[in-house]
Amino acid sequence: MTENALKEIKTKWDQRRELVEAELPRQLHQSGKTLDKTLTEAMEYSLMAGGKRLRPILLMAAADAAGAKGEDFIASACAIEMIHTYSLIHDDLPAMDNDDYRRGKLTNHKIYGAGMATLAGDALLTLAFEVMTREKASAEMKLAMIQEMSSAAGFQGMVGGQAVDLESEGKHIPLELLREMHLGKTGALFKAAIRSGAILARADDKTLEALTKYALAFGLAFQITDDILDVVGDEATIGKPVGSDERNNKSTYVTLTSLEEARRLAQQAVDDGLKAIEPIGEKAKFLGALLEYLICRNK
Ligand code: IPE
Ligand code: IPE
Ligand code: MG
Ligand code: MG
Ligand code: MG
Repeated sequence: MTENALKEIKTKWDQRRELVEAELPRQLHQSGKTLDKTLTEAMEYSLMAGGKRLRPILLMAAADAAGAKGEDFIASACAIEMIHTYSLIHDDLPAMDNDDYRRGKLTNHKIYGAGMATLAGDALLTLAFEVMTREKASAEMKLAMIQEMSSAAGFQGMVGGQAVDLESEGKHIPLELLREMHLGKTGALFKAAIRSGAILARADDKTLEALTKYALAFGLAFQITDDILDVVGDEATIGKPVGSDERNNKSTYVTLTSLEEARRLAQQAVDDGLKAIEPIGEKAKFLGALLEYLICRNK
């Protein structure tokens, strides 16, 4: 990827990230008087701790690619970030990956305790659906999005993948199962983000199909790179511990293949994703650049 192309995506990324960061607290505090101050604080702590905001950016970019204006769907973009943040809080819990740092700060349970961190996650997940109902779109489109998001977040999607991840600790699992695990724990939310953006933009069937293929490739490439960064990343840059997978005896693309093979498979997924959006043309240029950026990212 050239310096110029990188600069171009960083500019658009930053612009949209700022929109999301401004809107997240507005959505959080729109739900009326606070019932429990500590819980609200714990939710805000992880939600506003930084992060790449990749899922909201993808939701908006998919809407752009389908011919709408991504910014119009900022509420739904915030909603997917809330689901994602909940998944991170729970992923870091002592009973899960037991990690102390996330987004460059102490993990939620390190500050608020495991009980409150569990509740902060629960509350972010449910708030996300309240926020989706606030979207400025027709009831029909919102229902279609809620269907996407709820099934992606649940037992056939993210939570299901996390369960496979837990059960695979200390085991040598087949590569096909690892792929399904990654498509679940990580791919499902990316797919929901991208398809939701397309649905809200009233994408035609062909565009939706192309974006769905792109999303699957994106999720896979993203988690393979995450596995690689867990080995070769820089802790200060990624904002979370390096070596967490090894400590937990996780099955990852690096442990089941090799660094080199993991890199090759990530590149293959990127190529598949780029091919999928070719028919959309110019309007999907940013999506293509994001995917290419993925495998050279350092955080
Ligand atoms: C981390 O996701 C969890 C995975 C699915 C690998 P991100 O790398 O997008 O985390 P943030 O949102 O930038 O913190
Ligand atoms: C978890 O994968 C993905 C989630 C559903 C949160 P990891 O456990 O590899 O994510 P990190 O590396 O802690 O961010
Ligand atoms: Mg994990
Ligand atoms: Mg983890
Ligand atoms: Mg990881």
